[in-house]
Amino acid sequence: MNILLLGSGGRESTFAWKMKQSPLCDQLFIAPGNAGTQTYGTNLNLNPLDFEAVKASVQANNIQMVVVGPEAPLVEGIYDFFQADEALQHIHIIGPSKEAAQLEGSKAFAKSFMEEFNIPTAAYQEFTLASLQAGLDYIDQQTPPIVLKADGLAAGKGVLILDDKEEAKQELKAMLEGKFGQASNKVVIEAFLKGIEFSVFVLTDGKSWKLLPVAKDYKRIGEGDTGLNTGGMGAVSPVPFVDEALMKKVIDRIIQPTIDGIDKRQLIYKGFVFFGLINVGGDPYVIEYNCRMGDPETEVVFPRLKNDLVALMKDMDEGTLDKHTIEEEERSAAAVILVSGGYPEAYDKGKVITQMDAVEGSLVFHAGTKEKDGQIVTNGGRVIALTSFGADFAQAVAISKTNAEKIQFEGKYYRTDIGFDL
Ligand code: AMP
Ligand code: GLY
Repeated sequence: MNILLLGSGGRESTFAWKMKQSPLCDQLFIAPGNAGTQTYGTNLNLNPLDFEAVKASVQANNIQMVVVGPEAPLVEGIYDFFQADEALQHIHIIGPSKEAAQLEGSKAFAKSFMEEFNIPTAAYQEFTLASLQAGLDYIDQQTPPIVLKADGLAAGKGVLILDDKEEAKQELKAMLEGKFGQASNKVVIEAFLKGIEFSVFVLTDGKSWKLLPVAKDYKRIGEGDTGLNTGGMGAVSPVPFVDEALMKKVIDRIIQPTIDGIDKRQLIYKGFVFFGLINVGGDPYVIEYNCRMGDPETEVVFPRLKNDLVALMKDMDEGTLDKHTIEEEERSAAAVILVSGGYPEAYDKGKVITQMDAVEGSLVFHAGTKEKDGQIVTNGGRVIALTSFGADFAQAVAISKTNAEKIQFEGKYYRTDIGFDL
């Protein structure tokens, strides 16, 4: 089977690495990919949001499966685009329909879904510019911190957590007046949950589902989880505090009701669900749904997945997911992300990366890299993920850190404390 993978980050490098191991994978194409994905297949210079270009490339390369890495093409309806075209209907497309992708694409949609199916999440109300006054009054009734969420996709920046009610009111107004463009035409205000976060992933056809290894990511730029939010600075899997008792609650209260809700609402969902969860005193709550795998979680989840990923996705799409039993690598995996100096704010690109050959005992997953004049240069904020195994996460992190020291590029930065709170 020829496969086209859409995306260009560390997540996609890991998908490519894992899919290439499958005997079911003939030719692999990655669009647009990065300097690392070329090791596993052929990069195609096309924009995943240009569906006509995706179609042309699918037909030109005799693709039988399209795997969608990031959320944007899903939220924009790439699944529906394929289903609506007779020439494309037979192709496996891994990801939810446009309507189902609203679980990530609209916070208000996700909250009302959780409310309808009694899935534990923070209490909330939603507001528009027309109901601004009600929103201001609602803030007055809350105890800070106040959590404001832009309804739509806002490049990971649409969530504000404010300690001061007056500041929260100003921000609410600014958001409703277009601070995040269309994405904040509607704003969800929700209760602040105090606890420790973790990430749970399933592959589902909308009825059956399979649980993948559990992970935890580290989102803040600074040591000790301080400073600005990033796409993710590192991840570990498994997560020591996610024991059998907590996992049972996650399954009974969150995963099963979510899949049942997808089925009851007749949403078409053939892909990955990412449950962003928080453990509040032993009880799991949903912080957010995503309609795709996490980044950098994928960089630790797939290395611990022993199953053939392509077989899982193909059988999921053919309705025979149940015949599989998920097998997990027993060792821990940890990923440390090397980022460009300045990230998540302004940073330079085009810095030459050297010493990658010196890495020993870690998997090197490229993220923001590209090839230029025969050299590999930085091409994004998150540059490289180094994934290692160990008897526990601390051992795995130590190996990744040793290798993080070796790789060189101007402005290189990484967190040395991944797993510090476990
Ligand atoms: P989200 O985009 O919804 O995942 O929010 C981004 C981050 O904000 C989350 O990863 C949490 O760290 C934090 N966050 C979001 N909602 C809440 C909440 N209700 N209580 C506490 N922290 C939250
Ligand atoms: N690591 C969080 C995300 O992928 O959204």
